[in-house]
Amino acid sequence: MTLLVLLCLLGHVCNLQVSAAPANKAFKHLQSALKFWHISDLHLDPTYHITEDHTKVCFSSKGVPALDPGVFGDFLCDSPYQLILSAFSYMKQADLQPEFIIWTGDSPPHVPKEELSTDVVIDVIANMTHTIHQFFPQLPVYPALGNHDYWPQDQLPTSENAIYDAVAKLWSPWLNPEAVATLQKGGFYSLVIKPGLRLVSLNTNLYYSPNQVTVNMTDPAGQLQWLQETLELSRQKLEKVYVIAHVPIGYLPYAINTTAIRESYNDQLVKIFRNYSDVVEGQFYGHTHRDSIMVLLDQQGKPVNSIFVTPAVTPIKSLLEPFSNNPGVRAYLYHPENYGLLDIWQFYLNLTEANLEQKSDWKLEYIMTEAFDIDDIQPHNLHELALRFQQPQSKDFDKYFNHFMGALPPPGSAVTDPPALPPPEHVTLSCPACLSPPTST
Ligand SMILES: *[C@@H]1O[C@H](CO)[C@@H](O)[C@H](O)[C@H]1NC(C)=O
Ligand SMILES: *[C@@H]1O[C@H](CO)[C@@H](O)[C@H](O)[C@H]1NC(C)=O
Ligand SMILES: *[C@@H]1O[C@H](CO)[C@@H](O)[C@H](O)[C@H]1NC(C)=O
Ligand SMILES: *[C@@H]1O[C@H](CO)[C@@H](O)[C@H](O)[C@H]1NC(C)=O
Ligand SMILES: *[C@@H]1O[C@H](CO)[C@@H](O)[C@H](O)[C@H]1NC(C)=O
Ligand SMILES: [Zn+2]
Ligand SMILES: [Zn+2]
Repeated sequence: MTLLVLLCLLGHVCNLQVSAAPANKAFKHLQSALKFWHISDLHLDPTYHITEDHTKVCFSSKGVPALDPGVFGDFLCDSPYQLILSAFSYMKQADLQPEFIIWTGDSPPHVPKEELSTDVVIDVIANMTHTIHQFFPQLPVYPALGNHDYWPQDQLPTSENAIYDAVAKLWSPWLNPEAVATLQKGGFYSLVIKPGLRLVSLNTNLYYSPNQVTVNMTDPAGQLQWLQETLELSRQKLEKVYVIAHVPIGYLPYAINTTAIRESYNDQLVKIFRNYSDVVEGQFYGHTHRDSIMVLLDQQGKPVNSIFVTPAVTPIKSLLEPFSNNPGVRAYLYHPENYGLLDIWQFYLNLTEANLEQKSDWKLEYIMTEAFDIDDIQPHNLHELALRFQQPQSKDFDKYFNHFMGALPPPGSAVTDPPALPPPEHVTLSCPACLSPPTST
C-alpha cells in the first residue's frame, strides 16, 4: 500500500494507479482534493561540516560532540544546507501539484546570541526565501515569523524594526500591499489566497513566554483586536480562514498543563477561535518540532477546530532532551469548494539511513486517514481519535507517539537512547514554559 502510494507520487501514471486501486479513503481524497505543502523550522546551520573533531561539526551543538555526523546532518545539530535542499528536491519531484506552500518560521540556527546579529538573521531568512523561490518559482508561499527569526531570539517587538522591514521586502512577491504593510508594522498579515479562502498569518511570538518586550501588555501590536476584526469581516463575506503561525496555542505536548504562549494570551485566542469556529477551517503551527494534533472544544465540549503542529526539517535536539525527530515535511489535502481539510500526507527522511547511504531517500511516513482509520481530519474525527488515545494500551496512541518523532524508534533503541534527564532546575531557566530545554524549538 505504502509502496503503491509512493510510486503514484513519483510517477506520471498516478491517476491510472489510483483508479485501479481498491476503493480506499486515502486514494479517494487524493483524486478529488487540492493540496498544499507545510514546511517549518528549517533552522539552517551554515557552519555544519563533517570533521574529525565532533565538537566542531556545527555551532548549534554548542561544543557538545555531534553523535554521528553525516552529509544530511546530525541529531545534535541544526540543518546542513544539504538537508534543506534534499527536502525541497523531494517536494519538487513528488509533483503533488500543490496550490501553495505555508512556511511557519524559524530559519536561523540554535546558537548563542553572540554568534548571531540582526544582519545574520536577515541573511539566513533571505537565503531560505531565495532557496524556496528557486525551487518553486511558480508557487505562492505564505510565511509566518518564528521566535528565532529575530535577534536576539524570542524578543520580537510590537512595532516596525529592521527585521520586519526586511521580511516585508523579501516576502512581498508572495503577498499584496496591504499584507506587506501589516507585516512590516507588526509581523502579521492576512490575504485572500483563493476565492472565498483567507489566510491569516499571526505573529504568536508576541505572546511567547520568553518574550520580555510584551510582558504585561494586554494586546501586543493590537494583533488580537485585528484578528477579531479580520475574522468578523471574513464571516460577513462568507470566507473560510486558514490560520498559520509559529508558536502554537494550547498545551505543549511534552509538559503537563503548560501552554507555549502566556496563559492570558492563550485564553484570549481560545475565546476568539471559539467565537469564529464556523469561519476558521484549520490552524497550522510549528515550533515544537514534533508532529502533533490538537482539537479545540467549545464551552459545551463539542469539537469545533482542528489544530495541527508540523514536525521540523531540522533534526536537532539538545543533549538533555530524550527525543528528537527525523526531518519531516507534509502535504494537506483539502476540499476544492468548501476548503474543508481532508487529509495529511506526512513525509520524512530517515536521517541515519540517509547518512549511511550518502543519499537522501525521503519517504511517505503515513497518511492520516489511513493510519488512524478516520474519514477526514475534521474536528469531530480528530476528537474521536483523541478519545481512542485515552484507552488503556491504545495501539493508536503508540502509532501517534512514533509519528510524533518522525518515525524514529522510541527511546531505548540506539539512535535516541536518552541520557538521564537533569534535575528540573537546570531545565527551565530561560524558558519558563518549557519542560525541555529552550534550545529545542
Ligand atoms: C545559502 O547558504 C548556503 C550555505 O550556507 C550557500 O551554499 C547557498 O549558496 C546560499 N543560497 C542562497 C540562495 O543564498
Ligand atoms: C508587570 O506587572 C507586574 C504586576 O503588576 C509587575 O510586578 C512587573 O514589574 C511588571 N513588569 C513589567 C516589565 O512591566
Ligand atoms: C491540569 O489543569 C486542569 C484544569 O486546570 C486540572 O483539573 C488538572 O488537575 C491539571 N492536571 C495536572 C496533572 O496538573
Ligand atoms: C464574538 O463575536 C461577537 C459578534 O460577532 C463580537 O461582537 C465579539 O467581540 C466577539 N468576541 C470575541 C472574543 O471574539
Ligand atoms: C532508519 O534507518 C536505520 C538504518 O538503516 C534503520 O535501522 C531504521 O529501522 C530505519 N527507520 C525507519 C523508520 O525506517
Ligand atoms: Zn520556534
Ligand atoms: Zn524551531
